[in-house]
Amino acid sequence: MEIRLFKQTDADSVTTLWRQVFGYTEPRNDPAISLQRKLAANDDLLLVALVDGELAGTVMGGYDGHRGWIYSLAVAEHVRRRGVGKALVLRMEQLLAARDCPKINLQVLTTNAGVVTFYQKLGYNVEQRISMGKVLS
Ligand SMILES: CC(C)(COP(=O)(O)OP(=O)(O)OC[C@H]1O[C@@H](n2cnc3c(N)ncnc32)[C@H](O)[C@@H]1OP(=O)(O)O)[C@@H](O)C(=O)NCCC(=O)NCCS
Repeated sequence: MEIRLFKQTDADSVTTLWRQVFGYTEPRNDPAISLQRKLAANDDLLLVALVDGELAGTVMGGYDGHRGWIYSLAVAEHVRRRGVGKALVLRMEQLLAARDCPKINLQVLTTNAGVVTFYQKLGYNVEQRISMGKVLS
């Protein structure tokens, strides 16, 4: 397995993986548009995992100077439970720590509560927060 920064040549594989794993329906979450917006941020916080040379995982990070965030963690179904997700999160943690990020947050949909165990094994705790959002476009 190899974890490395996203390259432009990964674009089609990344959007295909996101469609397969997340099954987005909202137009604002269109994978190709999300990817272009992320690349426009030019923050080098998008990692991919290659398994047997094939793109099989992604994780996106964000850092605003106060908190780091993890998003778009996706591992192709046929290579799950082989440590790919863990490796992606740990590498993103290293990138954020290198920027002096003091804490990482992430959100889990209530419909995806099973993934909480995965994050707990990596040291993440469930925190009592009310998550709020506002759609701008
Ligand atoms: C969540 C996800 C990224 C995990 O990827 P993965 O490569 O299968 O995870 P790993 O093999 O690295 O697992 C690391 C540990 O978590 C455990 N784990 C992984 N998925 C788990 C799950 N759904 N429930 C319970 N434990 C889980 C593994 O057994 C392993 O435990 P171990 O270290 O004791 O052996 C993957 O299942 C996925 O892409 N899910 C769909 C997208 C998603 O939900 N993303 C997160 C959005 S918040």
